[in-house]
Amino acid sequence: MWQPPQRIAFKASPGRIPTREEAAASRLFSPLDHGPLHLSSRTWVPAMVPWRADPDGNVTQAVVDWYARLADGQPGCIVIEATGIRDVPSGPLLRVGHDRYIDGLRRVVDAIHRHSDGRTQAFIQLIDFLGVKRRPERDKYLERFLRITDCHRAALAMEGAPDAAVREHMLGLDDEALQAVLGPREWEALQKGARERVTDIHLPHIRELPAVLPELFADAARRSREAGFDGVELHYAHAYTMASFLSATNTRDDGYGGSRDGRLRLPLEVYRAVRAEVGAGYTVGCRLLAEECIAGGSGLDDSAYFALELARAGMDFLSFSRGGKFDDAKQPRVGEAVYPYTGVSGYECMPSYLSDEKGPFGRNLAATAELRRALRDAGLTTPVVAAGGIHNFEQAEAALADGVADIIGGARQSLADPGWWKKLREGRGAEVRQCEYKNYCEGLDQKHKDVTCQLWDRVALDEPGLARSRDGKRRLVAPADW
Ligand SMILES: Cc1cc2nc3c(=O)[nH]c(=O)nc-3n(C[C@H](O)[C@H](O)[C@H](O)COP(=O)(O)O)c2cc1C
Ligand code: SF4
Repeated sequence: MWQPPQRIAFKASPGRIPTREEAAASRLFSPLDHGPLHLSSRTWVPAMVPWRADPDGNVTQAVVDWYARLADGQPGCIVIEATGIRDVPSGPLLRVGHDRYIDGLRRVVDAIHRHSDGRTQAFIQLIDFLGVKRRPERDKYLERFLRITDCHRAALAMEGAPDAAVREHMLGLDDEALQAVLGPREWEALQKGARERVTDIHLPHIRELPAVLPELFADAARRSREAGFDGVELHYAHAYTMASFLSATNTRDDGYGGSRDGRLRLPLEVYRAVRAEVGAGYTVGCRLLAEECIAGGSGLDDSAYFALELARAGMDFLSFSRGGKFDDAKQPRVGEAVYPYTGVSGYECMPSYLSDEKGPFGRNLAATAELRRALRDAGLTTPVVAAGGIHNFEQAEAALADGVADIIGGARQSLADPGWWKKLREGRGAEVRQCEYKNYCEGLDQKHKDVTCQLWDRVALDEPGLARSRDGKRRLVAPADW
Protein backbone atom coordinates (compact mmCIF):
# COMPACT_ATOMS: atom_id res chain seq x y z
CA MET A 1 0.00 0.00 0.00
CA TRP A 2 1.11 3.57 -0.67
CA GLN A 3 2.14 5.52 2.42
CA PRO A 4 2.76 9.23 2.85
CA PRO A 5 6.49 9.95 2.52
CA GLN A 6 6.56 11.68 5.93
CA ARG A 7 6.02 8.28 7.63
CA ILE A 8 5.02 9.82 10.95
CA ALA A 9 3.93 7.02 13.30
CA PHE A 10 0.55 7.41 15.04
CA LYS A 11 -0.87 5.28 17.84
CA ALA A 12 -4.57 4.96 18.58
CA SER A 13 -5.32 5.90 22.17
CA PRO A 14 -8.37 5.14 24.31
CA GLY A 15 -8.92 8.87 24.96
CA ARG A 16 -11.10 9.79 27.90
CA ILE A 17 -13.02 6.69 28.93
CA PRO A 18 -16.67 7.32 29.88
CA THR A 19 -18.30 5.89 32.96
CA ARG A 20 -21.44 3.84 32.42
CA GLU A 21 -23.51 6.89 33.40
CA GLU A 22 -21.66 9.19 31.02
CA ALA A 23 -22.09 6.69 28.21
CA ALA A 24 -25.81 6.42 28.96
CA ALA A 25 -26.15 10.21 28.72
CA SER A 26 -23.96 10.51 25.62
CA ARG A 27 -24.95 11.35 22.09
CA LEU A 28 -23.12 8.25 20.81
CA PHE A 29 -25.33 5.89 22.76
CA SER A 30 -28.57 7.77 22.18
CA PRO A 31 -31.11 6.35 19.71
CA LEU A 32 -31.73 7.75 16.26
CA ASP A 33 -35.09 7.78 14.50
CA HIS A 34 -35.47 9.06 11.00
CA GLY A 35 -38.31 7.79 8.83
CA PRO A 36 -37.93 3.99 8.68
CA LEU A 37 -34.42 4.15 10.19
CA HIS A 38 -34.44 3.29 13.90
CA LEU A 39 -31.09 2.78 15.61
CA SER A 40 -30.68 1.89 19.28
CA SER A 41 -27.47 3.95 19.26
CA ARG A 42 -25.47 6.00 16.78
CA THR A 43 -22.78 3.34 16.45
CA TRP A 44 -22.25 1.61 13.12
CA VAL A 45 -20.04 -1.09 11.67
CA PRO A 46 -19.36 -0.21 8.01
CA ALA A 47 -19.18 -2.95 5.40
CA MET A 48 -16.07 -5.16 5.45
CA VAL A 49 -15.55 -8.18 3.20
CA PRO A 50 -14.11 -11.04 5.31
CA TRP A 51 -13.92 -13.52 2.37
CA ARG A 52 -15.91 -16.21 4.17
CA ALA A 53 -18.53 -17.08 1.50
CA ASP A 54 -18.21 -20.32 -0.45
CA PRO A 55 -17.03 -20.22 -4.09
CA ASP A 56 -20.67 -19.94 -5.23
CA GLY A 57 -21.30 -16.86 -3.10
CA ASN A 58 -23.32 -18.70 -0.43
CA VAL A 59 -23.39 -17.91 3.27
CA THR A 60 -21.26 -20.39 5.23
CA GLN A 61 -21.13 -21.06 8.96
CA ALA A 62 -17.98 -18.90 9.00
CA VAL A 63 -19.97 -15.96 7.58
CA VAL A 64 -22.62 -16.40 10.27
CA ASP A 65 -19.98 -16.65 13.02
CA TRP A 66 -18.21 -13.52 11.78
CA TYR A 67 -21.35 -11.37 11.99
CA ALA A 68 -22.50 -12.99 15.23
CA ARG A 69 -19.19 -11.96 16.81
CA LEU A 70 -19.53 -8.39 15.53
CA ALA A 71 -23.09 -8.31 16.89
CA ASP A 72 -21.80 -9.21 20.38
CA GLY A 73 -20.70 -5.57 20.54
CA GLN A 74 -24.34 -4.45 20.01
CA PRO A 75 -23.71 -1.52 17.66
CA GLY A 76 -26.73 0.37 16.31
CA CYS A 77 -26.15 -1.17 12.90
CA ILE A 78 -23.93 -3.66 11.12
CA VAL A 79 -23.74 -3.29 7.36
CA ILE A 80 -22.80 -6.67 6.02
CA GLU A 81 -20.13 -6.83 3.35
CA ALA A 82 -20.41 -5.79 -0.29
CA THR A 83 -22.73 -8.44 -1.74
CA GLY A 84 -23.02 -9.01 -5.48
CA ILE A 85 -26.38 -8.25 -7.07
CA ARG A 86 -25.76 -10.51 -10.06
CA ASP A 87 -25.77 -14.27 -10.17
CA VAL A 88 -22.36 -14.57 -11.78
CA PRO A 89 -19.20 -16.32 -10.54
CA SER A 90 -17.27 -13.89 -8.34
CA GLY A 91 -15.21 -16.07 -6.02
CA PRO A 92 -15.94 -16.14 -2.29
CA LEU A 93 -17.88 -12.87 -2.39
CA LEU A 94 -21.40 -13.06 -1.00
CA ARG A 95 -24.18 -12.90 -3.56
CA VAL A 96 -27.83 -11.90 -3.52
CA GLY A 97 -28.40 -12.29 -7.27
CA HIS A 98 -30.94 -15.13 -7.03
CA ASP A 99 -33.73 -16.21 -4.69
CA ARG A 100 -31.71 -19.27 -3.65
CA TYR A 101 -29.46 -16.96 -1.61
CA ILE A 102 -32.29 -15.75 0.63
CA ASP A 103 -32.29 -18.59 3.16
CA GLY A 104 -28.55 -18.35 3.77
CA LEU A 105 -28.67 -14.60 4.22
CA ARG A 106 -31.54 -15.01 6.68
CA ARG A 107 -29.15 -16.94 8.93
CA VAL A 108 -26.86 -13.90 9.04
CA VAL A 109 -29.72 -11.56 9.93
CA ASP A 110 -30.96 -13.89 12.65
CA ALA A 111 -27.46 -14.20 14.14
CA ILE A 112 -27.05 -10.40 14.23
CA HIS A 113 -30.40 -9.89 15.90
CA ARG A 114 -29.89 -12.71 18.39
CA HIS A 115 -26.31 -11.87 19.39
CA SER A 116 -27.13 -8.21 19.87
CA ASP A 117 -30.28 -8.92 21.90
CA GLY A 118 -32.16 -7.07 19.19
CA ARG A 119 -30.11 -3.88 19.60
CA THR A 120 -28.40 -4.09 16.19
CA GLN A 121 -30.03 -3.44 12.85
CA ALA A 122 -28.77 -5.69 10.05
CA PHE A 123 -28.17 -3.91 6.74
CA ILE A 124 -26.62 -5.31 3.59
CA GLN A 125 -24.38 -3.48 1.12
CA LEU A 126 -25.42 -4.11 -2.49
CA ILE A 127 -22.66 -3.94 -5.07
CA ASP A 128 -22.16 -4.13 -8.81
CA PHE A 129 -18.67 -4.25 -10.29
CA LEU A 130 -17.13 -4.53 -13.73
CA GLY A 131 -14.62 -7.02 -15.08
CA VAL A 132 -11.00 -6.88 -13.90
CA LYS A 133 -8.49 -9.39 -15.25
CA ARG A 134 -5.29 -10.48 -13.55
CA ARG A 135 -2.01 -9.05 -14.84
CA PRO A 136 -0.92 -11.45 -17.59
CA GLU A 137 2.52 -12.80 -18.38
CA ARG A 138 4.06 -10.68 -21.15
CA ASP A 139 4.52 -13.54 -23.60
CA LYS A 140 1.08 -15.01 -23.02
CA TYR A 141 -0.51 -11.62 -23.52
CA LEU A 142 1.25 -11.04 -26.82
CA GLU A 143 0.81 -14.60 -28.05
CA ARG A 144 -2.83 -15.11 -27.05
CA PHE A 145 -4.80 -12.29 -25.45
CA LEU A 146 -3.94 -9.27 -27.57
CA ARG A 147 -6.23 -8.82 -30.57
CA ILE A 148 -4.00 -7.89 -33.51
CA THR A 149 -5.31 -4.92 -35.50
CA ASP A 150 -4.27 -2.90 -38.51
CA CYS A 151 -3.09 -0.17 -36.09
CA HIS A 152 -0.40 -2.58 -34.88
CA ARG A 153 0.52 -3.50 -38.45
CA ALA A 154 0.80 0.16 -39.39
CA ALA A 155 2.92 1.01 -36.34
CA LEU A 156 5.27 -1.84 -37.21
CA ALA A 157 5.23 -1.18 -40.97
CA MET A 158 3.91 -4.73 -41.43
CA GLU A 159 0.81 -4.00 -43.55
CA GLY A 160 -0.81 -7.20 -44.75
CA ALA A 161 1.24 -9.44 -42.43
CA PRO A 162 -0.56 -12.36 -40.75
CA ASP A 163 -1.34 -12.13 -37.02
CA ALA A 164 1.30 -14.70 -36.12
CA ALA A 165 4.08 -12.68 -37.74
CA VAL A 166 2.95 -9.50 -35.95
CA ARG A 167 2.89 -11.30 -32.60
CA GLU A 168 6.31 -12.78 -33.27
CA HIS A 169 7.69 -9.33 -34.00
CA MET A 170 6.15 -7.82 -30.88
CA LEU A 171 7.65 -10.54 -28.70
CA GLY A 172 11.10 -9.35 -29.74
CA LEU A 173 10.49 -5.68 -28.85
CA ASP A 174 11.72 -4.08 -25.66
CA ASP A 175 9.13 -2.39 -23.41
CA GLU A 176 9.66 1.09 -24.79
CA ALA A 177 9.22 -0.02 -28.39
CA LEU A 178 6.23 -2.19 -27.46
CA GLN A 179 4.49 0.66 -25.65
CA ALA A 180 4.80 2.78 -28.81
CA VAL A 181 3.02 0.05 -30.81
CA LEU A 182 0.21 -0.76 -28.34
CA GLY A 183 -2.74 1.51 -27.61
CA PRO A 184 -2.92 2.97 -24.05
CA ARG A 185 -5.58 0.48 -22.94
CA GLU A 186 -3.63 -2.44 -24.41
CA TRP A 187 -0.51 -1.27 -22.61
CA GLU A 188 -2.51 -0.98 -19.40
CA ALA A 189 -3.93 -4.49 -19.93
CA LEU A 190 -0.38 -5.80 -20.18
CA GLN A 191 0.96 -3.81 -17.24
CA LYS A 192 -1.93 -4.13 -14.80
CA GLY A 193 -4.49 -6.53 -16.28
CA ALA A 194 -7.44 -5.51 -18.47
CA ARG A 195 -10.06 -3.51 -16.61
CA GLU A 196 -13.49 -2.48 -17.92
CA ARG A 197 -14.75 1.04 -17.42
CA VAL A 198 -18.26 2.49 -17.51
CA THR A 199 -17.08 4.59 -20.45
CA ASP A 200 -16.47 1.50 -22.63
CA ILE A 201 -19.80 1.98 -24.36
CA HIS A 202 -18.57 0.21 -27.48
CA LEU A 203 -19.10 -2.96 -25.40
CA PRO A 204 -22.81 -3.88 -25.41
CA HIS A 205 -22.90 -5.04 -21.76
CA ILE A 206 -21.39 -1.72 -20.64
CA ARG A 207 -23.59 0.40 -22.89
CA GLU A 208 -26.63 -1.40 -21.46
CA LEU A 209 -25.77 -0.85 -17.78
CA PRO A 210 -28.40 1.89 -17.38
CA ALA A 211 -31.00 -0.48 -18.82
CA VAL A 212 -30.19 -3.44 -16.57
CA LEU A 213 -28.89 -2.10 -13.26
CA PRO A 214 -32.07 -0.57 -11.81
CA GLU A 215 -33.87 -3.90 -11.98
CA LEU A 216 -30.85 -5.87 -10.73
CA PHE A 217 -30.51 -3.61 -7.69
CA ALA A 218 -34.29 -3.63 -7.10
CA ASP A 219 -34.45 -7.44 -7.21
CA ALA A 220 -31.46 -7.67 -4.87
CA ALA A 221 -33.15 -5.26 -2.45
CA ARG A 222 -36.35 -7.29 -2.52
CA ARG A 223 -34.40 -10.46 -1.70
CA SER A 224 -32.57 -8.64 1.09
CA ARG A 225 -35.87 -7.56 2.61
CA GLU A 226 -37.20 -11.12 2.30
CA ALA A 227 -34.08 -12.39 4.07
CA GLY A 228 -35.02 -10.11 6.98
CA PHE A 229 -32.48 -7.32 6.58
CA ASP A 230 -33.63 -4.10 8.21
CA GLY A 231 -32.24 -2.01 5.38
CA VAL A 232 -30.01 -1.88 2.32
CA GLU A 233 -26.99 0.25 1.57
CA LEU A 234 -26.44 0.86 -2.15
CA HIS A 235 -22.70 0.80 -2.81
CA TYR A 236 -22.04 4.06 -4.67
CA ALA A 237 -18.46 4.37 -3.35
CA HIS A 238 -14.89 3.32 -4.12
CA ALA A 239 -13.87 1.56 -7.35
CA TYR A 240 -17.15 -0.02 -8.39
CA THR A 241 -19.77 0.52 -11.07
CA MET A 242 -22.03 3.09 -9.42
CA ALA A 243 -19.14 5.20 -8.11
CA SER A 244 -17.68 5.13 -11.59
CA PHE A 245 -20.90 6.63 -12.94
CA LEU A 246 -20.69 9.42 -10.36
CA SER A 247 -17.01 10.04 -11.08
CA ALA A 248 -15.84 13.18 -12.84
CA THR A 249 -13.91 10.77 -15.07
CA ASN A 250 -17.22 9.48 -16.47
CA THR A 251 -17.40 10.96 -19.97
CA ARG A 252 -20.22 8.78 -21.34
CA ASP A 253 -22.09 10.72 -24.01
CA ASP A 254 -25.38 8.79 -23.82
CA GLY A 255 -26.94 10.97 -21.12
CA TYR A 256 -25.33 8.97 -18.28
CA GLY A 257 -22.07 10.87 -17.98
CA GLY A 258 -20.43 14.25 -18.47
CA SER A 259 -22.39 16.81 -16.44
CA ARG A 260 -23.18 16.25 -12.77
CA ASP A 261 -26.79 15.52 -13.66
CA GLY A 262 -25.68 13.03 -16.30
CA ARG A 263 -23.38 11.24 -13.86
CA LEU A 264 -26.07 11.19 -11.18
CA ARG A 265 -28.81 9.95 -13.50
CA LEU A 266 -28.21 6.19 -13.10
CA PRO A 267 -27.64 6.32 -9.31
CA LEU A 268 -31.00 8.11 -9.03
CA GLU A 269 -32.72 5.66 -11.37
CA VAL A 270 -31.31 2.74 -9.38
CA TYR A 271 -32.50 4.32 -6.14
CA ARG A 272 -36.02 4.91 -7.52
CA ALA A 273 -36.27 1.33 -8.79
CA VAL A 274 -35.19 0.03 -5.38
CA ARG A 275 -37.63 2.30 -3.56
CA ALA A 276 -40.48 1.29 -5.87
CA GLU A 277 -39.71 -2.36 -5.05
CA VAL A 278 -39.33 -2.13 -1.26
CA GLY A 279 -41.70 0.73 -0.46
CA ALA A 280 -41.44 3.84 1.71
CA GLY A 281 -41.36 1.94 5.01
CA TYR A 282 -38.06 0.22 4.31
CA THR A 283 -34.62 1.74 4.94
CA VAL A 284 -32.65 2.49 1.78
CA GLY A 285 -29.42 4.49 1.95
CA CYS A 286 -26.16 4.61 0.12
CA ARG A 287 -22.42 4.85 0.65
CA LEU A 288 -20.68 7.41 -1.53
CA LEU A 289 -17.40 9.26 -1.66
CA ALA A 290 -16.86 12.62 -0.02
CA GLU A 291 -13.87 12.95 -2.37
CA GLU A 292 -12.44 10.58 -4.96
CA CYS A 293 -8.87 11.69 -4.17
CA ILE A 294 -7.62 11.07 -7.72
CA ALA A 295 -6.42 13.47 -10.39
CA GLY A 296 -9.43 14.69 -12.37
CA GLY A 297 -11.85 12.99 -9.95
CA SER A 298 -14.94 14.34 -8.20
CA GLY A 299 -14.31 16.72 -5.32
CA LEU A 300 -16.41 18.09 -2.50
CA ASP A 301 -18.52 20.34 -4.74
CA ASP A 302 -19.60 17.37 -6.83
CA SER A 303 -20.29 15.26 -3.75
CA ALA A 304 -22.36 18.02 -2.15
CA TYR A 305 -24.46 18.21 -5.30
CA PHE A 306 -24.93 14.42 -5.35
CA ALA A 307 -25.66 14.25 -1.62
CA LEU A 308 -28.36 16.91 -1.85
CA GLU A 309 -30.05 15.27 -4.83
CA LEU A 310 -29.87 11.78 -3.33
CA ALA A 311 -31.30 13.09 -0.06
CA ARG A 312 -34.08 14.95 -1.89
CA ALA A 313 -34.90 11.75 -3.77
CA GLY A 314 -35.55 10.09 -0.39
CA MET A 315 -32.42 8.24 0.73
CA ASP A 316 -32.78 7.36 4.43
CA PHE A 317 -29.07 7.80 5.19
CA LEU A 318 -25.87 8.84 3.46
CA SER A 319 -22.61 7.21 4.49
CA PHE A 320 -19.44 8.97 3.38
CA SER A 321 -16.19 7.25 2.56
CA ARG A 322 -13.24 8.57 0.53
CA GLY A 323 -10.90 7.38 -2.23
CA GLY A 324 -10.36 3.68 -2.89
CA LYS A 325 -10.03 3.91 -6.67
CA PHE A 326 -8.44 1.79 -9.38
CA ASP A 327 -7.15 4.85 -11.20
CA ASP A 328 -4.05 5.33 -9.05
CA ALA A 329 -3.62 1.74 -7.84
CA LYS A 330 -0.17 0.15 -7.87
CA GLN A 331 0.87 -2.29 -10.55
CA PRO A 332 -0.01 -5.81 -9.36
CA ARG A 333 2.37 -8.74 -9.63
CA VAL A 334 1.95 -11.04 -12.64
CA GLY A 335 -1.01 -13.35 -11.96
CA GLU A 336 -2.60 -10.93 -9.47
CA ALA A 337 -5.40 -8.42 -10.00
CA VAL A 338 -5.08 -4.69 -9.42
CA TYR A 339 -6.36 -3.73 -5.95
CA PRO A 340 -7.98 -0.32 -5.50
CA TYR A 341 -6.47 0.41 -2.09
CA THR A 342 -2.79 0.56 -3.04
CA GLY A 343 -2.45 4.16 -4.26
CA VAL A 344 -2.94 7.58 -2.68
CA SER A 345 -6.73 7.24 -2.96
CA GLY A 346 -6.46 3.83 -1.30
CA TYR A 347 -4.56 5.38 1.58
CA GLU A 348 -7.30 7.97 1.98
CA CYS A 349 -9.87 5.18 2.20
CA MET A 350 -8.05 3.02 4.77
CA PRO A 351 -5.29 5.19 6.22
CA SER A 352 -2.60 3.34 8.15
CA TYR A 353 -0.62 4.38 11.21
CA LEU A 354 2.33 5.71 9.16
CA SER A 355 0.95 9.00 7.97
CA ASP A 356 1.53 12.67 7.23
CA GLU A 357 0.90 15.60 9.62
CA LYS A 358 -2.87 15.11 9.21
CA GLY A 359 -2.63 11.59 10.61
CA PRO A 360 -4.85 8.58 9.96
CA PHE A 361 -7.56 9.36 12.52
CA GLY A 362 -10.66 11.11 11.25
CA ARG A 363 -9.18 11.98 7.85
CA ASN A 364 -12.65 12.12 6.29
CA LEU A 365 -14.30 14.13 9.06
CA ALA A 366 -13.74 17.63 7.67
CA ALA A 367 -15.19 16.65 4.30
CA THR A 368 -18.09 14.82 5.95
CA ALA A 369 -18.84 17.87 8.12
CA GLU A 370 -19.00 20.07 5.05
CA LEU A 371 -21.38 17.71 3.28
CA ARG A 372 -23.65 17.45 6.29
CA ARG A 373 -23.65 21.24 6.60
CA ALA A 374 -24.69 21.52 2.93
CA LEU A 375 -27.57 19.12 3.57
CA ARG A 376 -28.74 20.97 6.66
CA ASP A 377 -28.45 24.38 4.95
CA ALA A 378 -30.76 23.00 2.27
CA GLY A 379 -33.26 21.94 4.96
CA LEU A 380 -32.51 18.23 4.54
CA THR A 381 -32.37 16.13 7.72
CA THR A 382 -30.97 12.91 6.21
CA PRO A 383 -28.69 11.19 8.75
CA VAL A 384 -25.01 11.15 7.83
CA VAL A 385 -22.55 8.34 8.71
CA ALA A 386 -18.87 9.20 9.20
CA ALA A 387 -15.99 6.70 9.14
CA GLY A 388 -12.24 6.52 8.81
CA GLY A 389 -9.85 5.99 11.72
CA ILE A 390 -12.46 6.46 14.46
CA HIS A 391 -11.46 4.38 17.47
CA ASN A 392 -12.45 5.95 20.78
CA PHE A 393 -15.40 7.45 22.59
CA GLU A 394 -13.99 10.95 22.92
CA GLN A 395 -13.38 11.26 19.20
CA ALA A 396 -16.80 9.82 18.30
CA GLU A 397 -18.68 11.98 20.79
CA ALA A 398 -16.87 15.12 19.60
CA ALA A 399 -17.78 14.37 15.97
CA LEU A 400 -21.45 14.13 16.96
CA ALA A 401 -21.31 17.24 19.18
CA ASP A 402 -19.59 19.24 16.43
CA GLY A 403 -22.23 18.32 13.87
CA VAL A 404 -19.81 16.34 11.71
CA ALA A 405 -22.17 13.37 11.49
CA ASP A 406 -25.23 11.76 13.06
CA ILE A 407 -23.81 8.24 13.20
CA ILE A 408 -20.26 7.03 13.86
CA GLY A 409 -18.73 4.17 11.89
CA GLY A 410 -15.76 2.14 13.05
CA ALA A 411 -14.68 -0.62 10.67
CA ARG A 412 -11.17 -1.76 11.64
CA GLN A 413 -11.68 -0.88 15.32
CA SER A 414 -14.70 -3.25 15.29
CA LEU A 415 -12.61 -5.92 13.60
CA ALA A 416 -9.88 -5.48 16.21
CA ASP A 417 -12.28 -5.64 19.14
CA PRO A 418 -15.83 -6.60 18.13
CA GLY A 419 -17.07 -5.95 21.66
CA TRP A 420 -15.71 -2.42 21.92
CA TRP A 421 -19.01 -0.58 21.56
CA LYS A 422 -20.59 -2.58 24.38
CA LYS A 423 -17.52 -2.16 26.57
CA LEU A 424 -17.73 1.63 26.11
CA ARG A 425 -21.45 1.66 26.82
CA GLU A 426 -20.99 -0.34 30.01
CA GLY A 427 -18.19 1.87 31.32
CA ARG A 428 -15.59 -0.81 30.59
CA GLY A 429 -13.69 1.24 28.03
CA ALA A 430 -10.37 0.39 29.70
CA GLU A 431 -10.82 -3.16 28.36
CA VAL A 432 -11.00 -2.06 24.70
CA ARG A 433 -8.18 -3.38 22.49
CA GLN A 434 -7.19 -0.53 20.22
CA CYS A 435 -6.71 -1.14 16.50
CA GLU A 436 -3.10 -0.52 15.49
CA TYR A 437 -4.01 0.56 11.93
CA LYS A 438 -1.11 -1.45 10.47
CA ASN A 439 -3.50 -2.87 7.88
CA TYR A 440 -2.62 -6.53 8.24
CA CYS A 441 -6.36 -7.18 7.68
CA GLU A 442 -6.33 -5.15 4.50
CA GLY A 443 -3.35 -7.16 3.19
CA LEU A 444 -5.43 -10.32 3.64
CA ASP A 445 -8.38 -8.67 1.90
CA GLN A 446 -6.15 -7.82 -1.04
CA LYS A 447 -5.25 -11.50 -1.46
CA HIS A 448 -8.87 -12.62 -0.94
CA LYS A 449 -7.71 -14.61 2.13
CA ASP A 450 -9.82 -15.02 5.26
CA VAL A 451 -9.66 -11.60 6.86
CA THR A 452 -8.58 -11.72 10.51
CA CYS A 453 -6.90 -9.33 12.94
CA GLN A 454 -3.28 -9.36 13.97
CA LEU A 455 -4.29 -8.72 17.58
CA TRP A 456 -6.24 -11.93 18.06
CA ASP A 457 -5.81 -14.44 15.24
CA ARG A 458 -3.08 -16.48 16.98
CA VAL A 459 -4.62 -16.30 20.47
CA ALA A 460 -5.80 -19.54 22.17
CA LEU A 461 -5.43 -21.65 19.05
CA ASP A 462 -5.84 -24.77 21.17
CA GLU A 463 -9.46 -23.88 22.02
CA PRO A 464 -11.59 -27.03 21.49
CA GLY A 465 -13.59 -27.02 18.23
CA LEU A 466 -12.01 -23.79 17.05
CA ALA A 467 -12.72 -22.87 13.40
CA ARG A 468 -9.53 -21.91 11.58
CA SER A 469 -8.59 -20.07 8.39
CA ARG A 470 -8.01 -22.04 5.18
CA ASP A 471 -4.26 -22.02 5.88
CA GLY A 472 -5.01 -23.59 9.29
CA LYS A 473 -2.87 -21.05 11.12
CA ARG A 474 -5.37 -18.50 12.35
CA ARG A 475 -8.61 -18.36 14.30
CA LEU A 476 -11.50 -16.80 12.36
CA VAL A 477 -13.15 -14.73 15.08
CA ALA A 478 -11.90 -12.91 18.14
CA PRO A 479 -11.87 -14.99 21.35
CA ALA A 480 -15.20 -14.88 23.17
CA ASP A 481 -13.67 -13.55 26.40
CA TRP A 482 -12.14 -10.47 24.76
C1 LIG B 1 -10.97 -5.95 5.35
C2 LIG B 1 -11.77 -4.78 4.89
C3 LIG B 1 -12.80 -4.96 3.97
C4 LIG B 1 -13.56 -3.86 3.55
N1 LIG B 1 -14.64 -4.07 2.72
C5 LIG B 1 -15.46 -3.03 2.40
C6 LIG B 1 -16.68 -3.24 1.70
O1 LIG B 1 -17.09 -4.37 1.40
N2 LIG B 1 -17.42 -2.15 1.40
C7 LIG B 1 -17.06 -0.89 1.76
O2 LIG B 1 -17.78 0.08 1.47
N3 LIG B 1 -15.93 -0.66 2.45
C8 LIG B 1 -15.13 -1.70 2.79
N4 LIG B 1 -14.03 -1.48 3.58
C9 LIG B 1 -13.74 -0.10 4.04
C10 LIG B 1 -14.33 0.14 5.43
O3 LIG B 1 -15.73 0.04 5.43
C11 LIG B 1 -13.95 1.55 5.94
O4 LIG B 1 -14.50 2.53 5.11
C12 LIG B 1 -12.45 1.78 6.04
O5 LIG B 1 -11.81 0.66 6.61
C13 LIG B 1 -12.13 3.02 6.86
O6 LIG B 1 -12.75 2.97 8.11
P1 LIG B 1 -11.98 2.50 9.48
O7 LIG B 1 -10.82 3.41 9.62
O8 LIG B 1 -13.01 2.63 10.54
O9 LIG B 1 -11.53 1.11 9.24
C14 LIG B 1 -13.25 -2.56 4.01
C15 LIG B 1 -12.21 -2.40 4.94
C16 LIG B 1 -11.48 -3.47 5.38
C17 LIG B 1 -10.38 -3.26 6.39
S1 SF4 C 1 -5.28 -6.20 11.63
FE1 SF4 C 1 -6.45 -5.61 13.41
S2 SF4 C 1 -5.20 -4.11 14.49
FE2 SF4 C 1 -4.39 -4.31 12.40
S3 SF4 C 1 -5.42 -2.69 11.22
FE3 SF4 C 1 -6.62 -4.56 10.94
S4 SF4 C 1 -8.17 -4.46 12.57
FE4 SF4 C 1 -6.58 -3.00 13.12
